[in-house]
Amino acid sequence: MLNIIKNKLKPKVKSLVKKLKGSNENVRLHGMTNISEQQYFEIYAREQYQGIGEIVDLGSWMGSTTIPLAKGIKNNKNCQNKIDKIHAFDRFIWESWMNISSQDTLKQYQPGDSFLDEFKKRTKKYSKYIKVYPGDLCEIGWIGKEIEFLLVDAMKSWKLTSSICQDFFPFLIPGKSLVLHQDFSHFYTPWIHLVMYRFRDYFEPHYDVPNSPSFVFKYTSKIPADKLDMDYSFKSFSVEEAEAAVSYSLSCTPQEKHNGIIAAKIMFFAHQKQYDQAQKEVDKYIKQGYQLEKDLKKASEFIKNKVNS
Ligand SMILES: C[S@@+](CC[C@H](N)C(=O)[O-])C[C@H]1O[C@@H](n2cnc3c(N)ncnc32)[C@H](O)[C@@H]1O
Repeated sequence: MLNIIKNKLKPKVKSLVKKLKGSNENVRLHGMTNISEQQYFEIYAREQYQGIGEIVDLGSWMGSTTIPLAKGIKNNKNCQNKIDKIHAFDRFIWESWMNISSQDTLKQYQPGDSFLDEFKKRTKKYSKYIKVYPGDLCEIGWIGKEIEFLLVDAMKSWKLTSSICQDFFPFLIPGKSLVLHQDFSHFYTPWIHLVMYRFRDYFEPHYDVPNSPSFVFKYTSKIPADKLDMDYSFKSFSVEEAEAAVSYSLSCTPQEKHNGIIAAKIMFFAHQKQYDQAQKEVDKYIKQGYQLEKDLKKASEFIKNKVNS
């Protein structure tokens, strides 16, 4: 699978890299995305976005996804009506785990504080392109317009997964829309692999954002409504399907993403409190030659903490 994708993407990747080299936008914005992702968001919005549907940014935090998208839209020559094209969803409420990413925030936030003003300040220059939706996206839902680019950085639980599938996926445009999963190579989120495998007949692997956890799928044909209108959970998937899902994700991606993907497989068991099985999986992958580092280490530590608590 990866060879097919590589061959298909080669010209596209080459031209993207060429454009990035010619761009002055090489300064990383503060956020939970890296420069490779931020450059991809900008180039996508500038060169590939057609303006036939909306851009939806789920989990905008301090705008490191939103700002490059807006910069791209601003300089997009093909898109006529650019006002309010980017729809930024976030609770904008500080949580304790965000402290790890808060080094340069102007203010030290406490859990429960709103950081909406800071988001607005950082995105002010591009505010005419951005419509902000503060609150729980599971409750807010979607305004019903077609979505051309769905950037998912908020699929952090089954509830969010089901909401995104139910409320946003029905508005993707077959043959046109892209869905970017920012947590595709992240230990915590096995549900991403499970649903993308379940929907594999309706998407195709499209682009690997290099040196990052992000991976992009293209929406190819309409997902039947009954497959979307479900409250998904671990009960919806057998162990065999989880294994197939992980194999599928591994086959779509280069080696650099595999540590995070197999760590997500371990979390398939750990989230279900099957810690013995989760540990067996860690041991299996280490025997296969994986290093206990990065996301695999985090999954292993997650199991240890749970077992010892
Ligand atoms: C990993 S962070 C996103 C990082 C961000 N994309 C960036 O560029 O740095 C995940 C975000 O999802 C948001 N989030 C989590 N649950 C949410 C919910 N139910 N509704 C809306 N946003 C939510 C959090 O507030 C957080 O800002």
